[in-house]
Amino acid sequence: MTTPVRVALLGAGTVGAAVARRLVERADLYAARVGSPLELVGVAVRDTSRVRDGVDPALLVQDAEALVDQADVVVEVMGGLDRARELIERGIRNGAQVVTANKQLLAHHGPALEALAAEAGVGLDYEAAVMAAIPVVAVVRDSLAGDVVTSISGIVNGSTNFVLDLVARKGVPFEEAVRLAGELGFLEADPTEDLEGLDAAAKIVLLARAAWGAPLTLADVQRRGITGLTDEDFRTASANGKVIKLVASAWTSGAQDAPRVELAVRPVALPQDDPLAQAREGSNVLIVEAESAGTLRLHGAGAGGDETASAVLGDLVRAARRVTRA
Ligand SMILES: NC(=O)c1ccc[n+]([C@@H]2O[C@H](COP(=O)([O-])OP(=O)(O)OC[C@H]3O[C@@H](n4cnc5c(N)ncnc54)[C@H](OP(=O)(O)O)[C@@H]3O)[C@@H](O)[C@H]2O)c1
Repeated sequence: MTTPVRVALLGAGTVGAAVARRLVERADLYAARVGSPLELVGVAVRDTSRVRDGVDPALLVQDAEALVDQADVVVEVMGGLDRARELIERGIRNGAQVVTANKQLLAHHGPALEALAAEAGVGLDYEAAVMAAIPVVAVVRDSLAGDVVTSISGIVNGSTNFVLDLVARKGVPFEEAVRLAGELGFLEADPTEDLEGLDAAAKIVLLARAAWGAPLTLADVQRRGITGLTDEDFRTASANGKVIKLVASAWTSGAQDAPRVELAVRPVALPQDDPLAQAREGSNVLIVEAESAGTLRLHGAGAGGDETASAVLGDLVRAARRVTRA
């Protein structure tokens, strides 16, 4: 009988509950892929009295430290900065593998956490932090490790794309589109992170670090969100056959042997037939240019519980394999 891999789940919200459900529903599949069963030892939340669809209430705990201390793999899907960082650091120091979907934490503290993980000899995986189910981190960091990435550009924030798409294709006035996006759950109660381009900035920093290994921070991003746009901007773009999108981009400049990485997030008026202009509603698109591979295009859902859980669980399987093979 193989020893189970013990998994601590931090968070049972949109993403965490979807991860917990899949771990139960597809237990046999994961056991076969890992070579040992994955045992969900507990789920840390703030409110243990609240029922969460498909999550065994007996697994809910408030003492996240005690949970982390039992784990071979810590899966952090609680969000936020300080608490998530403390718990991830605790897991790493214990020798646990870590999986996280927390883009803001990684944008702020990723290099320090990666250094700590390297020192402890454990993995820190974060595919879900950028564009949810679309496997972009692995593509720029691993699949293209034998090539030279020259640029990355994309629609990486589904919420702002939903707003801009409503204006461009349905003719909804900009302020009304923002309000509708909020009502339909495409924007958080505080939509600043999306509308001001902070979410997109965190994602392009993570992608650029993965592609070029450069120690980039949020301060390196030339950032402009969509709040300054007016209906006049949309009318002008449309009259010129263009469509406004919030584009996140990263590219190299300067000497080939010591390239500089430039990062930007800003609204851009694109020709209608531009591949980035094709992103509809809340979808995401990423275009990666590499010296030998040429142009690669990745397209899909960049958010959602099940979609993000797909990426979290992929990382979890990889992390659990490291545990069983250690
Ligand atoms: N939602 C998406 O589509 C998506 C996509 C990509 C990445 N992500 C990332 O995934 C992470 C989770 O997102 P989400 O949408 O699932 O968030 P969420 O729905 O707000 O869920 C957060 C969960 O974490 C728990 N939690 C928060 N702070 C806690 C604390 N201090 N101690 C214990 N538990 C705590 C909450 O407990 P209670 O339930 O008791 O409040 C809740 O279960 C975030 O980093 C987010 O950026 C999300």
